[in-house]
Amino acid sequence: MNFISRSQIKKLPKAELHLHIEGSLGPELMMKLAKRNKIKLKYQSLDDIRAAYQFSNLQSFLDIYYEGAQVLVCEEDFFDLTWEYLLRCKEDNVVHAEIFFDPQTHTERGVSFNTVITGMKRALDQGNRELGISSYLIMCFLRHLPETSAFKTLEEALPFKSWIKAVGLDSSELGHPPSKFARVFEAAREHGLLAVAHAGEEGPPEYIWEALELLKVRRIDHGVRSMEDPKLIQYLQQKQIPLTVCPLSNLKLKVFKDLRDHNLKKLMNAGILVMINSDDPAYFGGYLGDNYFECAKALALSWEDLKTLARNSFSASFLPDDEKTRMLNLIERTCSDHM
Ligand code: ADE
Ligand code: ZN
Repeated sequence: MNFISRSQIKKLPKAELHLHIEGSLGPELMMKLAKRNKIKLKYQSLDDIRAAYQFSNLQSFLDIYYEGAQVLVCEEDFFDLTWEYLLRCKEDNVVHAEIFFDPQTHTERGVSFNTVITGMKRALDQGNRELGISSYLIMCFLRHLPETSAFKTLEEALPFKSWIKAVGLDSSELGHPPSKFARVFEAAREHGLLAVAHAGEEGPPEYIWEALELLKVRRIDHGVRSMEDPKLIQYLQQKQIPLTVCPLSNLKLKVFKDLRDHNLKKLMNAGILVMINSDDPAYFGGYLGDNYFECAKALALSWEDLKTLARNSFSASFLPDDEKTRMLNLIERTCSDHM
């Protein structure tokens, strides 16, 4: 078994398709923005913040994640947050990112939709120009909130429609099935937006079926519980519906007890179009490169496996076909000399 080094992983050009921008808010930036906006955090120090990041399940994480997001108030804050993530992308050789944002986390506190999206968009444009990183925005509806709130958010988004590639669905999964949002997803699709949804992270395979059949999603975010339903696995394999898997997130939120138990490799062996993502890297102990590295170690992934995962990240992206081909060729060119 060849040992895969961090520098080899870095050489692989990669796309990230499952990243919540609010989940990339690191402790240092959180403290800095709290000071800048005169917001009182319940933490006194960076160590206090880090010590709070012990989670027993998705909800215990979300409570802390929404608390941290309070420090984001002005356009400049959303710019700084996004720019910091793009600099991390550069370090990890992430050349394309499809980024989730949760407008309701901010609009519910009185921050305007315009403030949120304008700050992010300015950073993404600068990232494209100065770092050569392409990106799309995916607007997520918070599933613990009512359908009316999702419809209001869609209305607010329409003036910025050309900046948004797709809609998504996130937050507390159990008790909030995709069917609750069938109508708002239909409206979003009629406006030309693509659709994705978190499903099968903590929720049952039925939620994945609902996301596919009722929300007409192009990808499933997480989807690791699909393994419990052989018919679903067969369907995902035949239709090549991507699963955006987030291994370190699953470990931190106790979806799997140990990274060695993660079903990523089993999903690959079943012919599912999976790739690795970081989800909320500031909270889960690792950005994209760390996720690749830890999976390579825990699951004894080969160099060929890692190349497949990187290839899948582009194949499953919303990039146009010619751009996908260019990225797949780039992987071959940069990595043919490796092992
Ligand atoms: N929001 C941020 N991270 C999430 C996750 N892993 N699942 C659901 N909602 C989220
Ligand atoms: Zn997520």
